[in-house]
Amino acid sequence: MAIVLVREAGIRLEDERQVADFCRRQDIYYERWDADRLAGWERDPGPKLSESEQARIISAYEEEIKRLAERRAYLNWDAVLMSDAAPELLAKFGTLHTHHEEEVRVLADGGFAFVIRNVNGDGYFELHVEEGDVFALPANRPHAFKLGPQRKAVVVRLFSGEIGSVMHPFDDPSFEL
Ligand SMILES: [Fe+2]
Repeated sequence: MAIVLVREAGIRLEDERQVADFCRRQDIYYERWDADRLAGWERDPGPKLSESEQARIISAYEEEIKRLAERRAYLNWDAVLMSDAAPELLAKFGTLHTHHEEEVRVLADGGFAFVIRNVNGDGYFELHVEEGDVFALPANRPHAFKLGPQRKAVVVRLFSGEIGSVMHPFDDPSFEL
């Protein structure tokens, strides 16, 4: 269940419907899938998912992934791990940036937050997600990534084109992760 923290206003939203309404007003697609698909899953430690680990994650959510992809015209997807074992990735994605396409994420295990610029450009809010949360950030919206207290996030990414996306730095000297 996602949580929203509106920084400047000091507002915290935990109610699923309030979070969904807030996301809609912010032009962010949000839904929830059944969590616990990976219950009991112990992965090998290390900075990356193996191919068999990726396949296991994708197959756990295959039905929903295909449904979402069909509805929103996504063509490709993969699964990645973000953790303290890859500090250079955390540093890279922890900077404020945009993409020229949507950023679509399904949280399969762990937790993370996106710090996202308000739709009107006036300040930032944090979207904290946990297992089963699904969201799509619109193209060109400034944001930055940080891990949650679990210090890991297993994430399914969906793309309307090829897998992968280019980061474009967004300059805001006042920004803090
Ligand atoms: Fe991003």
